[in-house]
Amino acid sequence: MKKSIFLFISLFAFSLAFSQDKATNTEQMKWWREARFGMFIHWDMSSVAGTEISWSRLGPKPLDIWGDAAGTGGDSIYDNLYKKFNPTQFNARKWVEIAKDAGMKYLVFTAKHHGGFCMWDTKYTDYSIMNTPYGKDVIRELSAECHKAGIRFGIYYSPRDWHHPDYGMGDNSRYETYMTGQLTELLTNYGQVDVVWFDSFGKGESVKYWHADKVLELVRKLQPQTIVNNRCNYFGENVPSLKADFDTPEQTIGSYQPTRNWESCMCVVEAPKGGWSYRRDGKVKPFAECIRNLVGCATGDGNLLLDVGPDPAGIIPSDQAGRLAQIGEWIRKYGFTIYGTQGGPFRNGKWGGGTFKGNKVYVHLYESAPDTVSLPALKENLVNAKNLSHSNVKASMSNGKIKIISTPADRHSPDTILELTFNQNVTRIDN
Ligand code: GLC
Repeated sequence: MKKSIFLFISLFAFSLAFSQDKATNTEQMKWWREARFGMFIHWDMSSVAGTEISWSRLGPKPLDIWGDAAGTGGDSIYDNLYKKFNPTQFNARKWVEIAKDAGMKYLVFTAKHHGGFCMWDTKYTDYSIMNTPYGKDVIRELSAECHKAGIRFGIYYSPRDWHHPDYGMGDNSRYETYMTGQLTELLTNYGQVDVVWFDSFGKGESVKYWHADKVLELVRKLQPQTIVNNRCNYFGENVPSLKADFDTPEQTIGSYQPTRNWESCMCVVEAPKGGWSYRRDGKVKPFAECIRNLVGCATGDGNLLLDVGPDPAGIIPSDQAGRLAQIGEWIRKYGFTIYGTQGGPFRNGKWGGGTFKGNKVYVHLYESAPDTVSLPALKENLVNAKNLSHSNVKASMSNGKIKIISTPADRHSPDTILELTFNQNVTRIDN
């Protein structure tokens, strides 16, 4: 109970941490704002055990987000999984194809998670994929395939490292040298990196030595076009001067927020105690829920980064890939109501929400919506309402107010979409 309240407060803090506003890197953010939908991939040798990435490692987690966890030593089972990691079926082209077919425009891959295992050829540690029976640099292949396919490529890098003996030790300088060296490798040897997705430094004594600003400076120097999330700093801490490019609500749809960029990261797999990574006990979320998550983000003016967890052989399991293919089918029909739109022009809600572009507003109505939804008045006049889902849901406007009227039988799962055309370009209203 205590932990869940803390988690709630922490998630809230995450969204405030490392603040940014829309003025930040507007040029660099352009493609990302239009993309709306990306693939997160949590994958490393933890897939051999089929348990939660890093968090299933027993033993102390120095400087974790809950504060210092005392103790020494690691987990002799978890820390040796890499010796059995041999993903001979890994095929970067296939993964990128799955992402592309799902309508995802970018991909973010765990280069190093909190457990410290490195998925590329790094000269800074032996604890890497190069020393598994597989012995090949998967980031090399994945980045190359993304570049070829026109999918934006991003890396996830955890500043927390529960495996590294220098992490959080003394003034943390040895670890910082290690980390900046690794970031330099990642941002120099793999061509263009479009997103750098950090996952916060820990808490505890040594945070006072943590130089998030220097790390960020390095990233921006090495890849000036890249964009960075709001977790470069230590957990929950707000450093406005650092200017992150986007907020990161986790496992939840972010709330309507047109003033700051945001991206919800959510797992396609639901599992007890998490779902980040390949989970033997995981269950893929229903199709309708996945669509509502995407629509919920788009109508709130945010992105969705949907996570998959490939298996130890290197395959994105068929239940996950199958769900993504279904999402892709939906996107091919209705993607124009998502890509390149803004969330709004009015606040979304439990009933659904809107996206808009030019003189069009796309209303996404959920099955659970009430029979009448009254929307606040827009400045523009409604000239036409078209139902894109072939049902009888209707829209009318009188005294400036728009009403969406339907019966339960008219409302489809995962949503019913109306295209409203106005006499001129629509502007966002403050509500
Ligand atoms: C969290 C978790 C981690 C996951 C990440 C994704 O902070 O520690 O396991 O990778 O969020 O958002």
